[in-house]
Amino acid sequence: MNVEKKQIDRRCIFPAHRPARLVVLVSGTGSNMKAILDASLDEGYGAHIVAVGSDRNGTKGIEIARQAGIPTFEHQLKDFDSREEWNAAMRDSVREYVPDLVILAGFLKILNEDFLKAFPSRVINTHNALLPSFPGIHGPKDALEYGVKITGATIFLVDPGIDTGAILAQVTCPVRDDDTEESLLERIKEVERKQLVDVVGHMVREGWWQEGRKASFGSIKR
Ligand code: GAR
Repeated sequence: MNVEKKQIDRRCIFPAHRPARLVVLVSGTGSNMKAILDASLDEGYGAHIVAVGSDRNGTKGIEIARQAGIPTFEHQLKDFDSREEWNAAMRDSVREYVPDLVILAGFLKILNEDFLKAFPSRVINTHNALLPSFPGIHGPKDALEYGVKITGATIFLVDPGIDTGAILAQVTCPVRDDDTEESLLERIKEVERKQLVDVVGHMVREGWWQEGRKASFGSIKR
């Protein structure tokens, strides 16, 4: 009998540390990072932010982290001879803090494969649209212009593409007829922050898994 063996490429991850160590990367206001910071003040949350990094100097997100006494680092692409060198600097700075999870929270640059290989299945991103619709850095504007009635936010495991990684969670947000780009963005961000805090909490307390394009947290799929 010819029994075909199905190749299962499943990766299950449990944080090595308790509380789990989070490194968060930001490019701007850092309200998602701040939401995690606030949640982590509760010991039961199961994680704490050990460093915050940015690709820009003087962002609000970095300022919030510094005020909270969290170590920070900033690497601007323009200060490096090549994109590879910038990626290597980001990778080395993140690695220094031995993260269980790396969170891109409004980090608006693409990280290359070398970076991702250093933290396999451990880099997540939050995006302000329901992927695979409206990837990139103008999710709410693109959704509004397209005329969709429902949009939202997506958390995914980062791969080398632009917002193409395996989806961990999604939350919806209705689009109103009188929405502007700003009003829609702010309403999405309210549900986005809550989702990020919830999902990161589940991941660090219960572990997470990835099998091809399928990924989730909590009870590990057998
Ligand atoms: C968030 O809405 C996030 O989804 C978006 O940047 C915002 C950052 O807000 N990221 C992307 O568009 C990535 N493709 P914050 O700095 O206040 O957390």
